[in-house]
Amino acid sequence: MTLAGAHDAGSIPGPLPDALVAQFHELMARAIAAGEPEPTAMSLATVAGDGRPSVRIVLLKHLDRDGLVFYTNTLSRKGRQLAGQAWAGTAMHWKHLDLQVQVRSEGRVEPVSDQEADAYFQSRPRGSQIGAWASLQSEPLADPAQFQQRIAQAEDRFGDGPVPRPPHWSGYRLRPDRIEFWFGRPYRLHERILHTWQDDNWRQSRLYP
Ligand SMILES: Cc1cc2nc3c(=O)[nH]c(=O)nc-3n(C[C@H](O)[C@H](O)[C@H](O)COP(=O)(O)O)c2cc1C
Repeated sequence: MTLAGAHDAGSIPGPLPDALVAQFHELMARAIAAGEPEPTAMSLATVAGDGRPSVRIVLLKHLDRDGLVFYTNTLSRKGRQLAGQAWAGTAMHWKHLDLQVQVRSEGRVEPVSDQEADAYFQSRPRGSQIGAWASLQSEPLADPAQFQQRIAQAEDRFGDGPVPRPPHWSGYRLRPDRIEFWFGRPYRLHERILHTWQDDNWRQSRLYP
């Protein structure tokens, strides 16, 4: 899988600062402990060739110094948009913490390796693996019975054996060049900490709320 513009020379930001990654995981752990129902859910914005944005929720499966990883059908609407414009933005919102938190990121997107995608796919429940084969994600579905039929066909095809990762299902890694932590404060005097990759360095600044 190659994505347009994903590897322009000189445009790849450096790894995220360790402290930022640690802060993210600490906040995520607190959100989980606070009972956040979908702590890894994030809005993912992609753009069509004409510049029109579209947004949907996906699950963040991994965040480390190399960026944010999510998985999907590569032939889906988002997958097709990423094939044309390898840029994306994300937003997460943890509402159950004392201090509400939003984390936003923007940057280029690249495919994860086949090995990485295979390992994650094999960790998924079998029903999700079958679903990945059966769903023509984002395509029109004239009759829900057709989807059931495709599920039954995939179940027959793999029987009791392992379900391999479909060729049209994989992961993407967003390598942020901009990442912001927003902390909700009373009277909308929110705190915004922005990290940007500039002149070959990560720089931290504050923004008005
Ligand atoms: C909580 C939640 C989590 C979701 N997680 C994923 C995900 O990880 N991957 C995915 O492809 N779709 C996920 N979806 C479905 C997407 O929001 C979307 O409907 C689907 O990916 C098709 O989007 P597209 O047509 O823009 O490509 C999730 C939806 C919700 C509400």
